[in-house]
Amino acid sequence: MITRRMLIAAAGLAASALAGAPTFAQETVKVGLIVPMTGPFASTGRQVEAGARTYMAMHGDTVAGKKIELILRDDAGTADQTRRIAQELVVNDGVSVLAGFGLTPLALAVAPVIGQAKIPAIITSAATSSITEQSDYYVRSSFTLPQAAVPVATWATENDIKRVVTLVSDYGPGIDAETWFTKEFTAKGGEIVEAVRVPLQNPDFAPYLQRVRDADPDAIFVFLPSGVGSLFMKQFADRGLADAGIKLIATGDVTDDDILNDMGKPALGAITGQHYSTAHDSPENKAYVEAYKAAYPDMRPNFMSVGGYDAMHLVYAALEKTGGDATGDALIEAMKGLSWTSPRGPVSIDPETREIIQNIYMREVKEVDGELYNVEFATYEAVKDPAKTSDQ
Ligand code: DHB
Repeated sequence: MITRRMLIAAAGLAASALAGAPTFAQETVKVGLIVPMTGPFASTGRQVEAGARTYMAMHGDTVAGKKIELILRDDAGTADQTRRIAQELVVNDGVSVLAGFGLTPLALAVAPVIGQAKIPAIITSAATSSITEQSDYYVRSSFTLPQAAVPVATWATENDIKRVVTLVSDYGPGIDAETWFTKEFTAKGGEIVEAVRVPLQNPDFAPYLQRVRDADPDAIFVFLPSGVGSLFMKQFADRGLADAGIKLIATGDVTDDDILNDMGKPALGAITGQHYSTAHDSPENKAYVEAYKAAYPDMRPNFMSVGGYDAMHLVYAALEKTGGDATGDALIEAMKGLSWTSPRGPVSIDPETREIIQNIYMREVKEVDGELYNVEFATYEAVKDPAKTSDQ
């Protein structure tokens, strides 16, 4: 016999089950994407957004029974805005994951927020190695500068380049690039003639390039953040460095696919190392470029876009692994050790460091069918972030 008391007890149980419902009972999983959509680094934001939306266009917006909602916010490249927006997204919107962060200081700004909220922050763009050591909730879908710079140095020593001037933006990723290029290059017998650091904001390369010309190295090794390369390339040509026989070697940020066509002839022959080229020859990349161009006909997918694309893959694959449990600790644990084939090639998340392990390709800027591309010619396979492995 069902008594009144039993009914009341049952109702109470149901109510308390609802009140204590864990996050995975939600139907929608919200992903907060914070990138610069305005200001000098707006191209990074546009590319990351385009990559993330292309992923959703290709894979649908439902995974493990949950609907995925992408919430885009512009931080205009200012760290205090990044942190404030992150807080709002957590408190007001109830996001399960944060992603984006166009520059190193912007990624660092959210460490306290994700530590407190215990939710993952997927770094789609920033590339200073040490960021992921500032919180256990960071995971990276971009790359690190040591990861790209070491193969460029190895390649240089194997290709008759003996004396190099380094030129980098004077902040985290530039210093990482300079440090790790130099370490590998000098260990293999190369000589650094001069190390130049230029300001991140509004750099004028002309005076530095004159000094480089006077030093007459075999090559100049360059790191500049995405978007800044065209000004550099123009001044490199104007100062006659290429004509003087000084080779340009760089991380792929300098010959960014987004702006490479506008650089024109001076970019031809530049040798760079990086994890993604629009011209990467694989079925996965062909499908990606096609889907991307269908939605964004006036843009070309660059390495920032693939950081956005793979960030969404991380969210989807982690949710599949947890069976739809979107609590932060479950998601970050699920992301560790994931491996998949990205448009950039085979990748995985190092479970120890939460860094992406990926191929670094050596590329040369060439003209193909009337357009400039970073054409890959050699591959360093499954490169880990060398700044976090003890054998370097
Ligand atoms: C960073 C920014 C970039 O635009 C880039 O190409 C590499 C690194 C950064 O700030 O970490």
